[in-house]
Amino acid sequence: MQVYRTVSEFRAFRSAVQGTLGFVPTMGYLHEGHLSLVKAASLENDLVVASIFVNPMQFNSTADLAAYPRDEKQDLSLFREMGVASVFVPSVEEMYPPDFQTYIQVEKMTQKLEGEYRPGHFRGVATVVAKLLNIVQPMRAYFGQKDAQQVAVIKQMVQDLNLPVEIVVCPTVREADGLAMSSRNVRLSPEERKAAVVLHKALVAAKAAFYGGEREPERLREMMLQVLHQEPLARVEYVSINDAVTLEVVITPTASPLLVSMAVFIGEIRLIDNIILA
Ligand code: PAF
Repeated sequence: MQVYRTVSEFRAFRSAVQGTLGFVPTMGYLHEGHLSLVKAASLENDLVVASIFVNPMQFNSTADLAAYPRDEKQDLSLFREMGVASVFVPSVEEMYPPDFQTYIQVEKMTQKLEGEYRPGHFRGVATVVAKLLNIVQPMRAYFGQKDAQQVAVIKQMVQDLNLPVEIVVCPTVREADGLAMSSRNVRLSPEERKAAVVLHKALVAAKAAFYGGEREPERLREMMLQVLHQEPLARVEYVSINDAVTLEVVITPTASPLLVSMAVFIGEIRLIDNIILA
């Protein structure tokens, strides 16, 4: 497995690639969720390329960026074991040289949900993903459903800018107790880790009610809030019911698939999770 740290080195590798290329962009500190993306990419492509880049542009606070866990050695060895052909690991200066001044802004759908609480986050995500897609030039790129709004924003960008890539969305991978896998989970204390299962419990409550016939979005939201408020370590930032494609807030029963999502602080750690109900 080759590791490339500059765009020009990666481009030299890319120009010699024949066959289909699947791409898994990551910020490292890999878990089973990332590995499921690599597995899916391996099944559908001749060759898999991954990237590791903790993108400063998508963080809202320098403290959050500084606290983001990193373990490049371990990440590279996991990618190697999984048969990844090459990994692009650029520095911040390589991706954003001093004269960098071009950004991608997906407008409407970034104003709500995560975008409302993390201003500028999706501008950072869209910009770095567009750059990575241009550098790697994959046929398919793989993202997790756990970041549901990120997936919607990237799909919109690919459609609007006619980027020649297929976006493949893979299911959220969960711990045995239901907690969605996330690189942030390692920052939870043992007590917080136990409490964090409440996000999944709230989704399970909404799912049971929905398939039991409840279609009033506000009732579903209230049920989730009731579950979340039972956990003393949980502080809810939002619980929202949106159209799964447009991300518009849904206030009356609809036949369209619903994105049921939330952001909840467990202690100092902000966790997100979601489910699609259809
Ligand atoms: O989901 C992530 O890990 C990041 O947002 C991504 C897509 C690698 C862009 O930095």
